[in-house]
Amino acid sequence: MFDLRGEIALVTGGARGLGFGIAEGLAEAGSDVIIVSRNSEEANEAAKRIEEKYEVRAFSFACDVSNYEAVRELLERVEREFGRLDTVVNAAGINKRYPAEEFPIEEFKSVIEVNLLGTYYVCREAFRLLRKSENPTIINVASLTVTEVTTFNISAYAASKGGVASLTKALAKEWGKYGIRVNAIAPGWYKTKMTEPVFSDKERVEFMLKRIPLGRTGVPEDLKGVAVFLASRESAYMTGQIVFVDGGWTAN
Ligand SMILES: NC(=O)c1ccc[n+]([C@@H]2O[C@H](COP(=O)([O-])OP(=O)(O)OC[C@H]3O[C@@H](n4cnc5c(N)ncnc54)[C@H](OP(=O)(O)O)[C@@H]3O)[C@@H](O)[C@H]2O)c1
Repeated sequence: MFDLRGEIALVTGGARGLGFGIAEGLAEAGSDVIIVSRNSEEANEAAKRIEEKYEVRAFSFACDVSNYEAVRELLERVEREFGRLDTVVNAAGINKRYPAEEFPIEEFKSVIEVNLLGTYYVCREAFRLLRKSENPTIINVASLTVTEVTTFNISAYAASKGGVASLTKALAKEWGKYGIRVNAIAPGWYKTKMTEPVFSDKERVEFMLKRIPLGRTGVPEDLKGVAVFLASRESAYMTGQIVFVDGGWTAN
């Protein structure tokens, strides 16, 4: 069970944070991984760490997922070099924080372009590579904000992640006939580079901890198991689902 040996996964945002945690999980289950981020050095380092720790091959490519042409070229290269993809993880993401009434338009757009359009571009261009797989899956990374906006000044982020959740369901519906399963993970609060501003606010952290039934915030390793489950044949009858991994926040 939960065996991904012989498979190959592409993980955007896999160079650090939650994407790296997911990439590690897939590698631990035996899948080769392709790490994608804009910073090629960081992606390269991440791939090296994975190869050192697990008995899989790990590769890295630099790509800005908000640039459609760049994504098209990336997937063409992946097709030339690897022939197919079994799992695609869209974890690349950014957040920008401004009060909604004065959010600079270009900044708002940039969040939508990376988080929502980037996810769509990668799914769209990966489609024909996934069609060549016997176990094709997409795992998008949404957020708690899909159901609950937990903090202020994140209107662009919340809109983008709501879009990711809806896109996940729409693709699940359209691509079910091809056997491509499309699910999303909605993480709660995890300490990463993205959430540094939140975690440096003591009061906020105390508020979070009180609200989380499991009494702690998440670490990237907490996503390993759920990612492996969604990528594996053990979730063969699951598609279009948003799986919350939030220490119980949404149940509270
Ligand atoms: N941390 C949390 O509590 C939390 C909660 C809910 C959801 N999430 C989601 O989880 C995902 C990962 O976030 P994180 O917290 O791990 O943040 P992070 O540590 O900042 O990692 C983000 C990753 O995405 C990559 N990335 C950003 N923009 C990109 C672009 N345009 N093209 C390609 N790669 C790009 C980054 O690399 P480069 O900068 O080098 O490109 C980095 O590898 C995001 O989608 C985020 O929205 C996080």
